[in-house]
Amino acid sequence: MQINSKLPSVKTTIFTIMNTLAKEHNAINLSQGFPDFDTDSKLIDLVTKAMHSGYNQYAPMAGVLTLREQIANKIDGLYGVKYHPDTEITVTVGATQAIFTIIASFIRKDDEVIIFKPAYDCYEPAIELHNGKPIYVQLKAPTYKINWQEVKEKITSKTKMIIINTPHNPSGFLWSNMDMLALEKLVKDTNIIVLSDEVYEHIIFDNLKHHSACKYSYLKERTFVVGSFGKTFHNTGWKMGYCAAPANLMNEFRKVHQFNVFCANHPMQIAFAEYLKVESHFKNLSQFYQDKRDLFLNKIKDSRFKFTPSKGTYFQLLDYSAISDEGDVDFVKRLAIEYKIAAIPVSVFNSDNMDQKMIRFCFAKKNETLKKATYILTKI
Ligand SMILES: Cc1ncc(COP(=O)(O)O)c(C=O)c1O
Repeated sequence: MQINSKLPSVKTTIFTIMNTLAKEHNAINLSQGFPDFDTDSKLIDLVTKAMHSGYNQYAPMAGVLTLREQIANKIDGLYGVKYHPDTEITVTVGATQAIFTIIASFIRKDDEVIIFKPAYDCYEPAIELHNGKPIYVQLKAPTYKINWQEVKEKITSKTKMIIINTPHNPSGFLWSNMDMLALEKLVKDTNIIVLSDEVYEHIIFDNLKHHSACKYSYLKERTFVVGSFGKTFHNTGWKMGYCAAPANLMNEFRKVHQFNVFCANHPMQIAFAEYLKVESHFKNLSQFYQDKRDLFLNKIKDSRFKFTPSKGTYFQLLDYSAISDEGDVDFVKRLAIEYKIAAIPVSVFNSDNMDQKMIRFCFAKKNETLKKATYILTKI
């Protein structure tokens, strides 16, 4: 049988390659973005209780109402912005499903979607599957600052969507108030939809502020804000997330969502609805991860790697240009094999796989894991 792949350029991802190498060589794995510590046992108890209480059949299509109310309260409490739980919030199977469904709901053949590179890897395949065209704005290492003139020049009559991600994976860069205002100015009075991937909104360092797209009224009216419980509550394997958008956009989203997954996991929604009532469960996260970032960076400050401290997310980029001329993919493979530490090469997130001699480490790890990892990094 001949298969005419709809995604011919998609190969085994670097995450699978590095995870396999890490296993084979017994390397410390700071490659993929997930914690090596457990989620709160209180949350596990709440899920167990929900299962024993009979929440084991389909949830409402848009999500359990009490959870949508809690999400609306959280957004209002943090940003002073209101979303109606009935019509403007949908619970999804992780942020990934929200992102896929947003793209599926709006992108048609030849629609252009602007993406800032380096970019998380799930945006482009979804655009291509719907015959849209990704248009890249490549950010430059090490600051990853946005050149707004360049963005303006990339906008055409075919631009249907702009995808942003702040705090930014992989760079740890944060969009400033000025960045958000610049975006708002560009899209005001257009039909461009904004997909704002804010899955790391609760992981922000050094008393900096997260500027959610929902805070800017001309952005809010055209934006899907996407969140992830997996990132916030250390349970990426549960695949729970949500999105918020004005009712006219959400109405279109739900038309696709109901035939895509219909609904997300029911007992976990019941549990999150209860767990979100305690604000410290998400408000303490920045300090928790800032301590881990600081431990990681303090331990490697005398190494040959150069770095700009991450401003948010649980990722830290290291510049290895003083150590080797190798391409970043070869370099990380050698680190895994020879030094027994696994990272992700940033080129896989860049347009044309541009090699900036940057590699990404995930510091969502136990302190003992970070100490072992940093000891190795100082020996390279
Ligand atoms: C920027 C970004 N967006 C979305 C996701 C996906 O989140 P989820 O696991 O909730 O699907 C990730 C996960 O790594 C991410 O880093």
